[in-house]
Amino acid sequence: MKALVLAGGSGTRLRPITHTSAKQLVPVGNKPVIDFGLEAIAAAGITDVGIIVGHTGPEIEAYVGDGSRYGISVTYVHQPDPLGLAHAVLTAEDFLGRDDFVMYLGDNLIAGGITEFVEQFEANRPDAQILLAKVRDPERFGVAELGPDGHVSQLVEKPSEPKSDLALVGVYLFSGSIMDACHAIEPSDRGELEITDAIQWMIDDGQKVAERTITGWWKDTGKLYDMLEANRIVLDTYEPRMEGSMDEASEIQGRVVIEEGAELVNSTVRGPAIIGKRTRLENTFVGPYTAIYHDCVVTDSEIEHSIVLEETTITDVGRMEDSLIGKQVEVGRSRRRPAAMRLMLGDHSRVGLV
Ligand code: DAU
Repeated sequence: MKALVLAGGSGTRLRPITHTSAKQLVPVGNKPVIDFGLEAIAAAGITDVGIIVGHTGPEIEAYVGDGSRYGISVTYVHQPDPLGLAHAVLTAEDFLGRDDFVMYLGDNLIAGGITEFVEQFEANRPDAQILLAKVRDPERFGVAELGPDGHVSQLVEKPSEPKSDLALVGVYLFSGSIMDACHAIEPSDRGELEITDAIQWMIDDGQKVAERTITGWWKDTGKLYDMLEANRIVLDTYEPRMEGSMDEASEIQGRVVIEEGAELVNSTVRGPAIIGKRTRLENTFVGPYTAIYHDCVVTDSEIEHSIVLEETTITDVGRMEDSLIGKQVEVGRSRRRPAAMRLMLGDHSRVGLV
């Protein structure tokens, strides 16, 4: 069994972060999202892994490398344009051949990994196996309708009027016959070759498509609020760890991870929270569900329920919540006259003033 991880795409919903970075590398609990998928694949005993990359390919390759760090061997497959999940499968045809594979969407996080699903697939040998989860907003996903026999009868991609609340999770198990299906289908109204349509083609062709409904948490980290929620869930699983330093005026409360070389000066961190390597907090309060990545400096500020990426400087901002701040960002207070806001914001930035 091989694995195909999809790390191409354009990440429009996480702009402006994804103007410059791959969405699969945005950290959740200070760990890039793609790590969760690659670790789950390795834990399932799969070592032959293809990664689909698009225009952010160099960044993904620089981070993942040859995969040996995860105990896997990685083959990169370049998809020139994000023309759909089934198009990504076709792009990887040389790598996949007619072998069985698990397809893992690189921006998905799934509790408990995928080992159980891989084992079920290998034991029952359906032509495809999909995972479903009950969601409140099915119109954002591929949606499954079950027939009278309890099995999937209809799959529709992002329907405006969903017939059920069962969303397709971004982990699929396929036999080689998915290739025929991907070759057979036409692009959808949004111009993509949809994997949902390819699986529907298999159902219509009389092939066996098995489904499992998952009960644990699952997150597609495509949007800001999903990222913050995934960050909350992951931080809740961390054990406290102190690898940095703090002065006597500083305090750590609850489940907090202070990574190597991080420094607290007259600051309080209330967990669940993680402070990244070499990050310095001064006269600062970091509240629950916050992840501050490596090499940041936060001074005279309060931050809660937020994600901050590397090498960012935050000074005297008062209180900040529910925020996702990119890399090498500077947020500060200006003493210059005339007193005014001075902003340099990238395309698609969002600022909420009080
Ligand atoms: O997260 C689950 C959902 O994922 C499913 O419920 C949907 O049925 C499925 O179509 C997919 O929907 P999304 O709109 O969330 O897919 P997205 O465009 O975000 O792409 C998912 C991942 O695949 C992401 O890491 C980018 C990558 N990708 C995407 C496309 C369209 C590629 O590598 N190549 C592509 O052509």
